[in-house]
Amino acid sequence: MRKYDRHTSRKMSNDFPVRLEFYKNIANETLDAIFESKPIIPELKQAMEYSVTLGGKRLRPALCYSVWEMLGGDLKSTTAVSAIRLIGAAIELIHTYSLIHDDLPCMDDDDFRRGKPSNHKVFGEAMAVLAGDALLNLAYEVLFDVCRQEKTIQAIKAAQLIAACAGSQGMVAGQALDMSSKSSNDEELLNTIHSLKTGMLFRASILSAAELYGISGEKYAELDRFAHDFGLLFQITDDLLDVCGSKEELGKTTGKDEAAGKLTYATVYGVNEAQVRAESIASSAKAHISHFDNNDFLIELVEQTLTRAK
Ligand code: IPE
Ligand code: IPE
Ligand code: MG
Ligand code: MG
Ligand code: MG
Repeated sequence: MRKYDRHTSRKMSNDFPVRLEFYKNIANETLDAIFESKPIIPELKQAMEYSVTLGGKRLRPALCYSVWEMLGGDLKSTTAVSAIRLIGAAIELIHTYSLIHDDLPCMDDDDFRRGKPSNHKVFGEAMAVLAGDALLNLAYEVLFDVCRQEKTIQAIKAAQLIAACAGSQGMVAGQALDMSSKSSNDEELLNTIHSLKTGMLFRASILSAAELYGISGEKYAELDRFAHDFGLLFQITDDLLDVCGSKEELGKTTGKDEAAGKLTYATVYGVNEAQVRAESIASSAKAHISHFDNNDFLIELVEQTLTRAK
């Protein structure tokens, strides 16, 4: 994405990559533990694990875990299957299912994801649909495990929020609008699609940690506003990367949105104006968490997202 001017000399805090790696490792360990604990038939497991273990940035669990820590929660001294760890991993399972389905020929028809052939290119369309279905159901099984384990209203509220954000009032609604909308200049529709299809899983990541911790009132509302801005920022930069990014760095095909007649920030505003809007949303996101102690990771994550190349 606009490599010539997006990568400034702004210094990255040293702690940031270490913490990002820490969160990513927790997500990976927890996902491994989930797969080990469930007897899944090999044909299906292979297709499910293929997409999960290809990697990905693990940003949704990282957000969940970092909000938990910012609020005062402990990640280090808990067991491998603590509630917060499982919640972050469950959201990653939902995200991965959404990517498998998003790439299907009947949706975005993408052959490349997370640096490898898309799930349906390897396992065929039928198995890719089923792998997605199974990942989604596995996520809810994990969330019910959390509720049983915790036996608290906070855990139930976190699980319920994730379901609401992922489904027919959230991500799936956004995908439906994305599929049915034509390229136009409808700015309101564009923001609705982005906030739903992408923003809602980020909202689930951020607010599930807040629910589990028992946050309410104005602090919860500020986190909700932060989540809204972060989700929008992330999809604006995804739209920009589709135009200006590199396939190698992104691990997915570029240059496909305009050809498919998608309603994106790049097609509606053009690259430069979209970047200006991304900067303004990033400032707004940071303002919403400015009053929280220990917000340094999240502030840096917003800045990294604004200038990301993958
Ligand atoms: C891709 O999300 C789908 C969008 C919401 C734009 P990510 O860019 O977080 O994908 P991975 O998880 O790193 O592969
Ligand atoms: C996808 O948006 C959002 C999802 C819910 C999967 P895109 O279709 O733009 O994501 P990419 O570019 O394929 O990752
Ligand atoms: Mg799509
Ligand atoms: Mg897509
Ligand atoms: Mg995209």
